[in-house]
Amino acid sequence: MTTTVIAPPAAPPPPPSRRRRGRLLAAGLVLLLAASAAVYWLTRDTDDGGYDPDAPYLDASRPVAERVDDLLGRMTLDEKIGQMTQAERREVTTGDVTTYALGSLLSGGGSVPADNTPQGWADMYDGFQTEALATRLRIPMIYGVDAVHGHNNVSGATIFPHNIGLGATRDPQLVRKIGEAVATEVVATGLDWDFAPCLCVARDTRWGRTYESFGEDPEIASSMTTIVTGLQGEQLGGPNSVLATAKHYVGDGGTLGGKDQGDAQISEEELRKVHLPPFQAAVKAGVGSVMVSFSSFNGEKLHGHRYLLTDVLKGELGFTGFVVSDWNAIDQIDGVRDAFTPAEVSTAINAGIDMVMVPERWREFIGVLRDEVNAGTVPMSRIDDANRRILTKKFELGMFERPLADRSQFDQVGSAAHRELARQAVRRSQVLLKNAGGVLPLKPKTGKVFVAGRNADDIGNQSGGWTLTWQGKSGPITEGTTILQGIKEAVEPGGTVTYSADGSGLNRGYDVAIAVLGETPYAEYEGDRPDGVKLDKVDLDTLATLRKAGVPVVVVLVSGRPVDISAQLPQVQGLVAAWLPGTEGAGVADVLFGAYAPTGKLPMSWPATAAQEPINTGDEKTPLFAYGYGLTY
Ligand code: GLC
Repeated sequence: MTTTVIAPPAAPPPPPSRRRRGRLLAAGLVLLLAASAAVYWLTRDTDDGGYDPDAPYLDASRPVAERVDDLLGRMTLDEKIGQMTQAERREVTTGDVTTYALGSLLSGGGSVPADNTPQGWADMYDGFQTEALATRLRIPMIYGVDAVHGHNNVSGATIFPHNIGLGATRDPQLVRKIGEAVATEVVATGLDWDFAPCLCVARDTRWGRTYESFGEDPEIASSMTTIVTGLQGEQLGGPNSVLATAKHYVGDGGTLGGKDQGDAQISEEELRKVHLPPFQAAVKAGVGSVMVSFSSFNGEKLHGHRYLLTDVLKGELGFTGFVVSDWNAIDQIDGVRDAFTPAEVSTAINAGIDMVMVPERWREFIGVLRDEVNAGTVPMSRIDDANRRILTKKFELGMFERPLADRSQFDQVGSAAHRELARQAVRRSQVLLKNAGGVLPLKPKTGKVFVAGRNADDIGNQSGGWTLTWQGKSGPITEGTTILQGIKEAVEPGGTVTYSADGSGLNRGYDVAIAVLGETPYAEYEGDRPDGVKLDKVDLDTLATLRKAGVPVVVVLVSGRPVDISAQLPQVQGLVAAWLPGTEGAGVADVLFGAYAPTGKLPMSWPATAAQEPINTGDEKTPLFAYGYGLTY
């Protein structure tokens, strides 16, 4: 028989020693970390590693698409949102560009560094860029500015005629050269993105932005997209190449009553026939960015218009650059001009906006967009598409290789060569509308010439809006030649010139009186004139004073658009539309004194009365002067 010893139940193994427990815990933690790292790595949308100097995106010999793919694969969601965020320079403090990985900054109209010189701009730019290069992946920021008729924020820069005058030249090659000159001056200050050209087609001269248009016929604006090549070069990244911006997409010049940021209540057929062609031409010319219009199309804000922004612009037209919103414009998508809502943010991005101009509330925007992505209302694919578009332009511009300002061309800003080009453009933009008795051309270096009018000796007035400040202003605001100075150069010392702003003092001893009249500076909605554009009392009084002397009167109109002058026309012998010539006012005198016979042609139908607006070529109305009209000697 076997004796079975029933052992007492085995005592539970002795608890591991403290040391062993520790080891087990540590092993557990390592396993947990490893597991979570694996999960993170597998599900990460990005590489959260640090800067890798050997990363493919930093290899300029690689195709841009490869560099974009590599960089995108390394970016966090916040870094991607940062690339889509554009803040105003006055609204960031030191370190913000790094902290938030901001992809872009801008200068709003008149937002200039304390030292408003090329050096001061380059120092400002490099300060921000150095912060961008301190981000994890060292992605350069791109800096946008409105250089819409020269580098017009910069003191001493060459100010060219506004687009309405360039439209009167009908000279696309001249406009391309102007683009080259403007790009050179922008690059000379370190910047890399120009919010120009405006390709709006102004259909109603009551609109405050008429002067930013090349005219009422889309053919002119389409032909002038040569300026895109002037600004960007044959391809981005050349010696004086800046990113151009076709704006404002689409139909801003066709709103009811010419109301700025209003509603274009027109058929899609008219939108496609009149307002879309210049953007098609700009896309064909390779424009790198497009800015969306504040306006609406039949009640729907363009900033939320997926069909026009994505299906038409990016799909049908094949635009591969990036779309930028206008100044706080996403705030208006819901029809209320208040701060943007989460719904407006997601609507704008999903409609096809790639970069958002949120000058002040950019921090809030970053948080809202992050929440919208995490909530699934903005798909990651849209974020990635926007980043691809933005990064592609930055690579093409060569920004990763040359991120800081090139300081070798400060002397290009306001250079004699650029001013001569501007003077040529002024000459060619003059439109001679009346020349009774051959009062023009005046004889140079002879005679007694009387000059009157508040616009005769005023650089600010002859330059108009978007000059040194957003709205522009009267007075000696920058270097240049006033129209009066140009007249003096043409007449003296053989002849004499007397200037009297209000026309007092004119007598029969003078051969001719030149009255330089018209508008004073304004921009955007500040220039809306719902009741039409007429001479104001100051100008009418000046003209009345001149008429009493019985001396032939030549009116030179400095204005951003046709002015209702029907009542005054019979009282004057000569009439010249000078538009907004900019800093080289001598170009006006060149035409008045025959150094250059006028060749300009009206880019807009000239209404007989405001009641005719909108009046455009081809409609049944009879203007005072027809589109395309212009006399010569
Ligand atoms: C303005 C204008 C636009 C300009 C932008 C940045 O509101 O609509 O033309 O480029 O803001 O200054």
